[in-house]
Amino acid sequence: MLSIGSVKLDNALVMAPMAGYTTLAFRLMVKKLGAGCVTTEMVSSEGLARGHKKTAEYVRSHADEKPLSVQIFGSQPEVMAKAAEIVVAAGADLVDINMGCSVRKVVKTGAGAALLRDLRKAARVVSAVRRACACPLTVKIRAGWSPEDPVAVEIARVIEDCGADAVTVHPRFATQGFSVPADWTWIGRIKERVGIPVIGNGDVSDPSLALRMKKETGCDGVMIGRGAISNPWIFQQTAAMEQGLGESRPGPWERRAFLLEHFTLLCESMEERRAALAVRGLVLACTRGLPHSSRLRGRIAQIRDGETLISTMDHYFSTLENLPS
Ligand SMILES: Cc1cc2nc3c(=O)[nH]c(=O)nc-3n(C[C@H](O)[C@H](O)[C@H](O)COP(=O)(O)O)c2cc1C
Repeated sequence: MLSIGSVKLDNALVMAPMAGYTTLAFRLMVKKLGAGCVTTEMVSSEGLARGHKKTAEYVRSHADEKPLSVQIFGSQPEVMAKAAEIVVAAGADLVDINMGCSVRKVVKTGAGAALLRDLRKAARVVSAVRRACACPLTVKIRAGWSPEDPVAVEIARVIEDCGADAVTVHPRFATQGFSVPADWTWIGRIKERVGIPVIGNGDVSDPSLALRMKKETGCDGVMIGRGAISNPWIFQQTAAMEQGLGESRPGPWERRAFLLEHFTLLCESMEERRAALAVRGLVLACTRGLPHSSRLRGRIAQIRDGETLISTMDHYFSTLENLPS
């Protein structure tokens, strides 16, 4: 079990914040499938502080997904503090500060991974948010801005000194995007130098890698991103593997049920047509590598409404069911 400040997680596996994916619907699904904690995608502190309606929609939550971590990004300490107050009032159990996003539109405002180039400002941001909220505070970092300036250990210590309750490490440099494998040695080096829990992240694409990351780095928790998009069952599979039980792979109808339930949940917050379009990416991800999935790909592009979504999935998954095993 992992405790972050006063919040006890059911297990040490955390769903990564992922813009465009970690919607309320998806978070509810992966929570049910065994994630110890789920996180919203990064939410603009400026948008929250100015009361933008669309930004507020990102922090809409549900009791069944708790404990919920809400990730905020920004570069102005007082705006970040205000945003933290808003998300806590909206139901966040933990507040997470984004210091890893390398997207141009974010870093050009001094937010996200740009804070790794200005540790004094980063410290002011963490301290201001710390003062503004009593709930557990976490910070998600990269190894640094660029390989020439590997500040990972230094920034993790600054974050701890400023009162954060845990640090999450995605060990690539901002300038690298996703172009190189995550270097887990940074997670181990940080773990040796801070007293707060360290959550490791990067390239955990199957349950055995989650266990390996824990073993190799000594990290207290493991955050999973893309691996949970293509395999939302990864959390329960990892727990089973940790207990020495065999790995269970979801069958065709389990996959179909997951996608349909996700679609139904999305329909609660948007019109059916938009929900059908939104779920297409997940259908692709959840069927990648399965027999005849390339044939399915062409048909997915034609999905424009709920009815076609359901008939396309029914057709595909029934074909799978009838394949000799
Ligand atoms: C589509 C996409 C969206 C992402 N959005 C966010 C985000 O909003 N906030 C954040 O801190 N990281 C974000 N990330 C980074 C992930 O949280 C994670 O650090 C990264 O994908 C590495 O973990 P993984 O190998 O398990 O995917 C995003 C990554 C992807 C691929």
